[in-house]
Amino acid sequence: MKCVNDFRLRLAGRELVPIIVGGMGVDISAACLALEAARMGGIGHISDAMVPTVSDRRFRTKFVAEKLKQYKYNVLNNDKADVQFNLARLAEATALHVGRTMEAKKGPGLIFINCMEKLTMNAPRETLRVRLIAALDAGIDGITLGAGLHLGSLSLVQDHPRFHDAKFGIIVSSLRALLLFLRKNARLGRLPDYIVVEGPLAGGHLGFGMDWAQYDLKTIVAEILQYLAEQGLDIPVIPAGGIFTGSDAVEFLESGAGAVQVATRFTVTNECGLPEKVKQEYLHAREEDIEVNLISPTGYPMRMLKGSPGIGAAIRPNCEAYGYLLDNSGHCAYIDAYNNEREARGADADFSVKEKSCLCTHMRNFAIWTCGHYAYRLKDTTHLLPDGSYALLTAEHVFHDYQYSKEHEIRLPVPVGPPEAGPVRQIR
Ligand SMILES: Cc1cc2nc3c(=O)[nH]c(=O)nc-3n(C[C@H](O)[C@H](O)[C@H](O)COP(=O)(O)O)c2cc1C
Repeated sequence: MKCVNDFRLRLAGRELVPIIVGGMGVDISAACLALEAARMGGIGHISDAMVPTVSDRRFRTKFVAEKLKQYKYNVLNNDKADVQFNLARLAEATALHVGRTMEAKKGPGLIFINCMEKLTMNAPRETLRVRLIAALDAGIDGITLGAGLHLGSLSLVQDHPRFHDAKFGIIVSSLRALLLFLRKNARLGRLPDYIVVEGPLAGGHLGFGMDWAQYDLKTIVAEILQYLAEQGLDIPVIPAGGIFTGSDAVEFLESGAGAVQVATRFTVTNECGLPEKVKQEYLHAREEDIEVNLISPTGYPMRMLKGSPGIGAAIRPNCEAYGYLLDNSGHCAYIDAYNNEREARGADADFSVKEKSCLCTHMRNFAIWTCGHYAYRLKDTTHLLPDGSYALLTAEHVFHDYQYSKEHEIRLPVPVGPPEAGPVRQIR
């Protein structure tokens, strides 16, 4: 019986542990989590979602306050077309977030950034170009393009000096989406360096409709592997979504995958950016506490805990401070949902907005608790403590559990006891 450590991912001239910690915005896959994955020889992701906000929290910059001050006059206006991102500031924030992370990198692994096309930021092409260029300039090892088809994204950086040296990957949920991406980018002479195939059990937004349960990751991965083999294309395929044990990963690696991308199990590690209280919510989740709904203004279904405080919350749209989901003419589906409800109930009444959510604000405040389908199994990966909370894990422990475990075993951490309990054993 094999374990993940019997396999290697060949990428960027290296032999990597084939474990990729997926991007989790907004700063849930925090730099210290990504750095741990790289230190252990795998790949970690930081996220490019709401980087000015993340930079304010990480480096005490004032990007959000500055933008809000500039557009405060527009707060009561439903038309947000005026509310533009300052591109120089966006580049500065990205340079800080990526640059400081790369400076701290140790070990044989790589750090990638997850870049979501759905962050249209009231000027989709311009803001995406700035984000990609700034990340490349700041030395990121690779860029994983997600949440969108990214048909024009590579062409935005085709003249960048690192266009051929940095790694580019695309996240798809079907062979069809992959074919569109490949056809559209054929003229650039630049194939993706890796393909993440995200199935219906993943966390975050899903690349499926509300019929997601009819799809199966193994089938989609097999179709894509077969297509690549027929075309003679040697591009690592990386399944993601619902890979909960090392043995789940081995099944994919044995059938031809280059690595696996995992996320949910890392949400309850010390290094994950979620607040401790929210990590406990994930650990306490039962299967019936998890749903896939349509409250994201992006239009994509999203999986989350039903108890997320952002669900139904009727906060005033906050686009002057954030505005990451404004389309290219200053619209966001939450603004309409909020106004419709406000009109129906009356401005002074208490009301709830069930249809859509102010995702920027709630993700920034960790109030939408997005998770993978198997989040309800997280409690099985650690110990229940006497006070009713669960012990958090280290990223190293979870990474090594994926890397070395066999027969679907999950190693629990050694409980930390009083000194007389003896030395704490290092778990591999
Ligand atoms: C809390 C959370 C946030 C996520 N945020 C993003 C994101 O911002 N962008 C993205 O492309 N994928 C996102 N994902 C998906 C993961 O990167 C990953 O592909 C997927 O969740 C893997 O499945 P697993 O969680 O079952 O291991 C998120 C997943 C989780 C659990």
